[in-house]
Amino acid sequence: MNTANINGKWALVTGASRGIGRQVSLALADRGCNVILHSRDSSHTEALAKEITDKGVEVMQVSAELAKPEAVEAMVQTLLVSGRSIDIVYNNAAIMTPYRSEWTVVPGDDLRLSFEVNVTALMRICHAFLPGMIERGWGRIINVTSGIADQPELIAYAVSKAAVDKFVMDTAPKLAGTGVMMNLLDPGWLRTDLGGPNAPGAVESVIPGALVPCLLDDGTSGKLYRAQDYVDSVI
Ligand SMILES: NC(=O)c1ccc[n+]([C@@H]2O[C@H](COP(=O)([O-])OP(=O)(O)OC[C@H]3O[C@@H](n4cnc5c(N)ncnc54)[C@H](OP(=O)(O)O)[C@@H]3O)[C@@H](O)[C@H]2O)c1
Repeated sequence: MNTANINGKWALVTGASRGIGRQVSLALADRGCNVILHSRDSSHTEALAKEITDKGVEVMQVSAELAKPEAVEAMVQTLLVSGRSIDIVYNNAAIMTPYRSEWTVVPGDDLRLSFEVNVTALMRICHAFLPGMIERGWGRIINVTSGIADQPELIAYAVSKAAVDKFVMDTAPKLAGTGVMMNLLDPGWLRTDLGGPNAPGAVESVIPGALVPCLLDDGTSGKLYRAQDYVDSVI
């Protein structure tokens, strides 16, 4: 596999405080990448920031409630004027509204919240950093999706992820030849706060697969990478 050198680049990881985002942040730092850790409150990433700093890379912490467009905008503006060029955006943060056994009536708030956090904020973050990446001729955007299927009890979450897939598929052709790649990652069903204790996979198994769409240098966008396909791989 032809891999890019991400040493010294800057990556924004949303939802970095725990679960998959934490694993991705640590793995990026292991490759020499500087990391911007996002969560809802910077205190959630304090310990991780220390751990990553000890790896010898630079760290910045940002906070934003992704359900609030004004908070997303404030975070984006903070980063745009920070003087750092964001080379990698890992849109990982998401919510899953509760399992609804009475699934024939999906609460409107489930849909609104799922779309605000999982889709609208994600798209805003992509659109904020794409122009700079295109101008510099290099960028990686990884939007985390899900393999969820046949669970109408979680339909608000499922349709929000389908919207993320559509966003990536329709944006991808426009990125051809720019040096910027936008792809999807399905982490697999993993034991995290969102995945729950019955998930078959350990959260650590998301690495190295989650890094593949960051490191690949083949210029293609619009692809779905499944982290679990790379469990025994050396990347
Ligand atoms: N785990 C699985 O089995 C699985 C399967 C398929 C796809 N995924 C996807 O993988 C990604 C990460 O999932 P995970 O299991 O690692 O989740 P998680 O353990 O629940 O962590 C969620 C992260 O997102 C942040 N977050 C949650 N709600 C937010 C909000 N309203 N605004 C801003 N940040 C918010 C949290 O920050 P705070 O510390 O501030 O709460 C936390 O860092 C998600 O996109 C999820 O859909 C997971």
